[in-house]
Amino acid sequence: MKIAKTITELKTYLEAIGGDKTIGFVPTMGYLHDGHLSLIKAAHAHNDVTVLSIFVNPTQFAPGEDLDAYPRDFLRDSRLAEAAGTDLLFFPDPAEIYPAGASTFVEVEGEITKKLCGQSRPTHFKGVTTVVTILFNLINPNIAYFGQKDAQQVAVIKKMVRDLHLPVQIAVCPIVREADGLAMSSRNVLLHPEERKQALVLSQSLAAAKALYQAGERSVKILTAVIVNHINSMPLTHIDYVEILDFETLANIETITSPTLAAVAVRFEKTRLLDNIILD
Ligand code: PAJ
Repeated sequence: MKIAKTITELKTYLEAIGGDKTIGFVPTMGYLHDGHLSLIKAAHAHNDVTVLSIFVNPTQFAPGEDLDAYPRDFLRDSRLAEAAGTDLLFFPDPAEIYPAGASTFVEVEGEITKKLCGQSRPTHFKGVTTVVTILFNLINPNIAYFGQKDAQQVAVIKKMVRDLHLPVQIAVCPIVREADGLAMSSRNVLLHPEERKQALVLSQSLAAAKALYQAGERSVKILTAVIVNHINSMPLTHIDYVEILDFETLANIETITSPTLAAVAVRFEKTRLLDNIILD
């Protein structure tokens, strides 16, 4: 596995690979877990070359969010990345991605970035779409891999690719979970032991809603209430949102008639967790 710290090194390695090979690209912020590794393995299985980026992107964190506390362990990450099939690891410094004076952003406007995570993190997706565009421009992948864990991020990236006619295919991989059901996240290590126990309520509340859906319930109001009540039964949780929306457009609905996304964001003292499930 090659490691590129600079754009010059990245370009040199990409040129050596040659233009006739297909490139699968996995953008991450590192502190890799099995969720990230599932994306690398999918890229490795379907492309000639797998490129992974590890970059804790400052523009997607607002002041006061956990940019400094975000977990980092490059040595461990590089070992895991290589074992999962990464050929080229791009690990740039912020000044490499955002040279002094950079003031250009890519922003997907409209409801899609304003609801769900956009409510409590109004500048977040602008940072995500900007960095993903920069990385796509530098790496020029055939297929880029994203996790369903960040369902709104997937919807926003797909819309950006469509709107800007970007020459890349977006592949979406299922949520990878811990044995007890907690969706894997780099932020899980920031949970205190009692919070870690109570965090199980995210996946459990979604499973309860899914069971009710499978038993025939189609009312968004009723299914939402079931999820909210479950989460509120755990005293350390603070609900950021519980939303049941159209899976493709993230539009609000009242009754489920087509594939639907049930998504939750829950804050603990210092850590905010996401989870979702598809009702199909
Ligand atoms: P990060 O949180 O590191 O996630 C990188 C990718 O891994 C994302 O596509 C995310 O959805 C996926 N992922 C995370 N946890 C997962 C899980 N449990 N199962 C499956 N996939 C999972 O998302 C970002 O970084 C950033 O916003 C980024 C796209 C890199 C832009 O900075």
